[in-house]
Parts: sequence; C-alpha cells; structure tokens
Amino acid sequence: MNEIKLFSPATVANVSCGFDVLGFCLDSVGDEMIIRKTDKKGIYITKIEGFDLPFEAELNVAGVSALAMYEAAKPDFGFEIEIYKNIKPGSGIGSSAASAVGSVFGMNELLGRPFNKTELTAFAIKGEAFASKCEHADNLAPAMFGGFTIVKSLSPLQILEIPSPDDLYATIIHPQIEIKTSEARAILPQNIPLSDAIAQWANFGSLIHALHTSDYPLIESSLHDVIVEPYRSQLIPYFKEVKDAALKAGALGAGISGSGPSIFTLSKGIETAKNVKQAMNDIYSKTSLDFDIHVSKINKQGIKIIDN
Ligand code: HSE
Repeated sequence: MNEIKLFSPATVANVSCGFDVLGFCLDSVGDEMIIRKTDKKGIYITKIEGFDLPFEAELNVAGVSALAMYEAAKPDFGFEIEIYKNIKPGSGIGSSAASAVGSVFGMNELLGRPFNKTELTAFAIKGEAFASKCEHADNLAPAMFGGFTIVKSLSPLQILEIPSPDDLYATIIHPQIEIKTSEARAILPQNIPLSDAIAQWANFGSLIHALHTSDYPLIESSLHDVIVEPYRSQLIPYFKEVKDAALKAGALGAGISGSGPSIFTLSKGIETAKNVKQAMNDIYSKTSLDFDIHVSKINKQGIKIIDN
C-alpha cells in the first residue's frame, strides 16, 4: 500500500467538568487527508484545501506530528500529506487535533502499524502543542480512539476509553469567530477554591459513572463546569442565551466545546438533539453572527480509512 485516504474527525474536549482530560468524538464533521509514500526522504505537505495554512512541515500541525513519528520510525522513504480541511482552525472542535492525528495514523498504516494508538497519540501531542503552546491530548485521544476518552496522564501517556450510551447525540453550534486556545488558556486562574474543585470532581466522577451505566438523568446532573466556563463564556457571544435555550429545548447539558467559541450540547435521542439545534439556531439567527450547527451521533470509531 502506497497511499491512504482518511476521515479525521472533529472532537469536543473538556465536556464541561473534565477540563484537559475528557473528550468525545463527533461523527458528522471532520477533515479528509491523503498520506502517500514517496521515494524522497522527509515529510512534504503537498496540498491544503479549505483554509490558508503553512505548507512547511515544521510550521504545520500535521507536519510537526508527522516529523516526530518520522524521526522515531526512520523509514528509508518519505511521505506526502494532502489536507482537505473542513474544521475551521480556532473553532473549538479539535481542528489541530484532527490534523495531528491524521498524519501519524496514516503514516503508521503505510508502515505496517509499528506503533499502537497510544504511541501515535504521543507523536500527535507534538503537533497539538505546536498549535496551542501547551501539551494536552483531550481532543487527540477521542479523535484517535473514538467515543469518550479520559487522558489519565500525559507522562507516561495513559488514555482510558469510556463507553458511550447508544442514544446520546451532540448538537454543536459554531459562531464564525476565532478564539485561540492559547488566549483562552491565558485567562484562566492558576488557583481555584477547594469548594469548586470538590464540585468539579464530584461531577466528573458522576459523569463517567453515568456514561458507563447509560444513566441519562445522571449525565444531566453532572454536566456542569464551575471552574472554566465562568471565565471563558465571556469570550463567546450570547453564550448564556444559547445555553438556556438548549436546556429549555431538552438538552441534558450545554457547555463550551474545548476552548470555544463552539458550544456543545448533549441530548438523549436524535429528535431532542434536532429540537436543540432549532432552539440554538433561533438565538443566533437574531444576531449578525455567521454560524453553523451540526447534530452528530457519538463517533465510536474515531479516525478511519475511507475509499479513494
Ligand atoms: N482542554 C483544552 C482547553 C482543549 O480547553 O484549553 C483545547 O481545545
């Protein structure tokens, strides 16, 4: 096999109570990438469609993660990477993670799978860190493994796969503004009150239990963020209005997707997820903001090979 085409999915990180450790994978939004072997040694980004991004491998997220893996694998040939980007950079649904995971997953397939998914995620962290100026894997892990994942530790990298209830759907609204992850991190406090920490880890533990047991009311009562959302929600226009409308329309919970500006909701059943979409749409339609909305099943597979 000399060439492979991939669907590299969008993801939602943090999921309200799991800042920097929890994430889940979306089904209906993602990038496509083609990875190809080439005789010339090195990593070459030969095509980028969708957004204006650097072609130099050292300056491109997909290239940085590819180079990290290339240096470890030391093949006697090189790779070309084509990126068909659908996920807007800075949208809060794992744009950089999709690129970082895509290049290393594709190269690994063409090399005969010398690395496991955790090892591939470790290479992808280099690309993600290049983009966001900090090492985190809460978008990378669900893009690589699918479903819900917990990043238990970065060093050594330890990723846990959490089951997704079958009837759980996400609705994501993406206002067309850009929030840089590095800037959204810079506004967060370095210390938090113990009472907030207690509330957050109670919700986090309860959410994980609820995902294991398909306990939708417990999912609902656990999807709260008392630590990060109060700061970052100020960066997102009409956040409170959208959240209130989504909850009124039946969502189990709503919060900031990753570092924003996208807002995610989780609902039981596709009908409710569509009602939530309408409710969120109604709020933003009254403003001058451009936006798009997606309803998605939880993608249990993660990145996948697609036909050419
Ligand atoms: N956990 C990261 C953050 C995700 O919220 O900063 C960034 O997409």
